[in-house]
Formats: sequence, structure tokens, C-alpha cells
Amino acid sequence: MTQLLVIDAASVRLSAQTGGQLALQQVSLRIAAGERIALVGANGSGKSTLLRLFNGLLLPVAGRVHKRDGLTQAMLFQRPHMLRLSVLRHVALGLWLRGTPWTGARARALLALQRVGLAKLADQAARTLSVGQQQRVAMAQAIAMEPTLLLLDEPTASLDPHAKREVEALMEDFVRAHPQAAMVFASHNLGQVKRLAQRVVYLEGGRVLADLPVADFFNPIVLQSRSPNAHLFAQGELA
Ligand SMILES: Nc1ncnc2c1ncn2[C@@H]1O[C@H](COP(=O)(O)OP(=O)(O)OP(=O)(O)O)[C@@H](O)[C@H]1O
Ligand SMILES: [Mg+2]
Repeated sequence: MTQLLVIDAASVRLSAQTGGQLALQQVSLRIAAGERIALVGANGSGKSTLLRLFNGLLLPVAGRVHKRDGLTQAMLFQRPHMLRLSVLRHVALGLWLRGTPWTGARARALLALQRVGLAKLADQAARTLSVGQQQRVAMAQAIAMEPTLLLLDEPTASLDPHAKREVEALMEDFVRAHPQAAMVFASHNLGQVKRLAQRVVYLEGGRVLADLPVADFFNPIVLQSRSPNAHLFAQGELA
């Protein structure tokens, strides 16, 4: 299996954190081409921090992060940040910053907006969209980059059921169209995890307490035996 990213006993301390507390503690994970991984855990367990470590936005204070040469990443953040630009320019800018000439970037951006059903809003100011629409613009931007590692932080958290299904379909399209890429997403929606993930990583207090194939995670007997904490969490979320 081609490893895209390997993390070895990585610990992260966030700048505003005081005392001995770490946002991630001794996390070891391998992400291979073709994998679809869900990160689950309570609020504050470290899912967003782990995604930022994958994306290179954070560096570990201990341990090691090794990326395969040529790895390209795109990340959808938990709260979308829109620039003071039109929707089309916002999406195209991401591509242009990575070296796509402007005309090509605009054309690809428009295609990506069509895919997320927002082409009709291409000329509107990105900041005037609803949060759900902004989330889909961010999704369009991430997908347009055709990354080898797609990182999604709660991609459907603020969406209505219809938009949620659309974004899930986009996630499925992405993995189907890019079998050599991997997708990692944080989610509080265990139904979504079941639909989209092959592997589930459970975080608690900045530690990985379970890393299991999806079938094992959703088998209460197996989960209980592998990680009582993850079992309690799953029971709570499913209740
Ligand atoms: N900028 C920051 N400065 C200091 N501490 C932070 C910062 N961002 C997050 N933390 C802390 O780091 C820990 C992990 O936060 P993180 O955002 O990764 O959790 P999460 O699992 O994504 O939670 P949620 O489900 O609410 O999105 C928490 O204890 C949080 O309070
Ligand atoms: Mg988060």
C-alpha cells in the first residue's frame, strides 16, 4: 500500500494553551492511497487539530510527520472563511495560488461550482452567501484542486438535509474519481461515517483511542472489547 502520510508519536501544543496540556498526545497514524478515514470524538477531542497537523498548518512539538513526495492537500475548514471576492474568484484564487494560470483557474472554478450546484451564484460576493452555501463553495474549491489528500472538517455540519446529501455525493464522487487519493473527514454524524468511511479513528483528550475498520467500529461487541471509551462514545452518539 502506498503511504501518503505517516505520523509517528506526534504531540501538538497550541500557542494559546498553557501548562502541560497538549492538544494532541503521541498520535501515530498512517494514511494510504485510496483510504476514506473518519475522525470522531467529542468536542475538543482534537479532530480539527489533527486535520491541521495533516495539512501542515501545525508542527508537532514531539514526534514526526512524514509526507510522501508530491503530496498535495486541500482542506475544508470547520468554519468557512470567504474572501472579499466573488464566489468564482474565491474558488479560482485557490487554484491560481497553486500555479494554475488565471484563465484556466476560472474555467476549473466554474466547473467545480457547477458540480456543487452554485454556478448561478458565481458573480455574487462570497461573504454574502449563507453559511451552508459558503461550505459548498469551500467544497468546490477543495475539489477543484484535485488534491491527493482531501481533508474535510465537519463538511456537512451546517447544511440542511438536501445540501448534506449533495456534499456527501461530492465526497463519494471525489473518491471514485481519484482512487490514488485519500480522504479524511471529521464528523459528529455517525450515519455519515457509516456511509462514507472505511476506517474510523476515535480521539479523546488528544489521543487516538481506537483506529478500526468501519465494520468493527459499528459492531458494539468488537468496539467494546477494543476500546471501552470509544464504545461509550458511540452508544451516546447513536442514542
Ligand atoms: N487556538 C487554540 N488555542 C488554544 N487551545 C485550542 C485552540 N484551538 C483548540 N484548542 C484546544 O485544543 C483541543 C482540541 O481542539 P479541537 O478544535 O482540535 O477539537 P475538535 O475535536 O475539533 O472539537 P469540535 O468537535 O468542537 O470541533 C481543545 O481542548 C481546545 O480547547
Ligand atoms: Mg473541530
